[in-house]
Amino acid sequence: MEATATRRGDAMILPRHIAIIMDGNGRWAAARGQPRAAGHKSGLGAVRMTIEECVKHRIEALTLFAFSSENWRRPAEEVSSLMGLFVEALDREVAELHENNVRIRVIGDRTALSVRLQARIAAAEEQTAANTGLQVQVAVSYGGRWDVVQAVQKLAKQCAQGALRPEDITEREVSSALALGVLDDLTLADPDLFIRTGGEKRISNFLLWNLAYTELYFTDKLWPDFDRAEFEAALAYFAARERRFGLVGAQQRVVQGGG
Ligand code: FPP
Repeated sequence: MEATATRRGDAMILPRHIAIIMDGNGRWAAARGQPRAAGHKSGLGAVRMTIEECVKHRIEALTLFAFSSENWRRPAEEVSSLMGLFVEALDREVAELHENNVRIRVIGDRTALSVRLQARIAAAEEQTAANTGLQVQVAVSYGGRWDVVQAVQKLAKQCAQGALRPEDITEREVSSALALGVLDDLTLADPDLFIRTGGEKRISNFLLWNLAYTELYFTDKLWPDFDRAEFEAALAYFAARERRFGLVGAQQRVVQGGG
């Protein structure tokens, strides 16, 4: 497997693709005696900062876990405020993202979303489709197991239609059938760095296949408190890792082209 971290001049090694579980909005709000929705709203500020930092560092891709398959089981009021927030965020932020050459995509089971939200998503994707800067994937109604199931169904259909032979299914076919693998003309490297805020040390059904070799960074900071210094700390953690991809250290140094 190819080493995916990048080195620019003497600068530190940066991840090409960052995936984030933005956890802790509810606790942030509770600590202030506010409703959970206020925490999510505040979390939007951390999303904006993170996108700005990724643009500044010329990171290629950012994938944000905004709403999981399991989150549908939250109280109806919270689900509806989150859905409202997604519509609001798209309405308010897309023009500026577009100006900054950011391309936005949503991954997940969008059939579960309201027609209104689906339309806003489609419009945002269309408006930013030709942008070549930061590629932002927002995972909404997404689950890693859902993703594997939909990929298996897709491949099984191709086999049933005679377009694919079961023995020709390799990691490449599975990768490209997954949500991150079907972004039109876009080829995304798997995430190099995973960040989870809020203190839990779990993957929580995020990108199960794509996180196979990803460096994992956990912080106790609640998502609305995730600031530029925290983002830089996560980048510094990544830069200090020696990524082996199943090789021994000495082999990896050869793969990366030096000491
Ligand atoms: C988890 O915190 C957070 C969410 C389920 C929602 C994340 C949404 C945003 C940050 C805002 C919108 C984002 C975009 C990209 C438009 P939690 O509620 O589980 O917190 P808790 O663990 O403290 O209860």
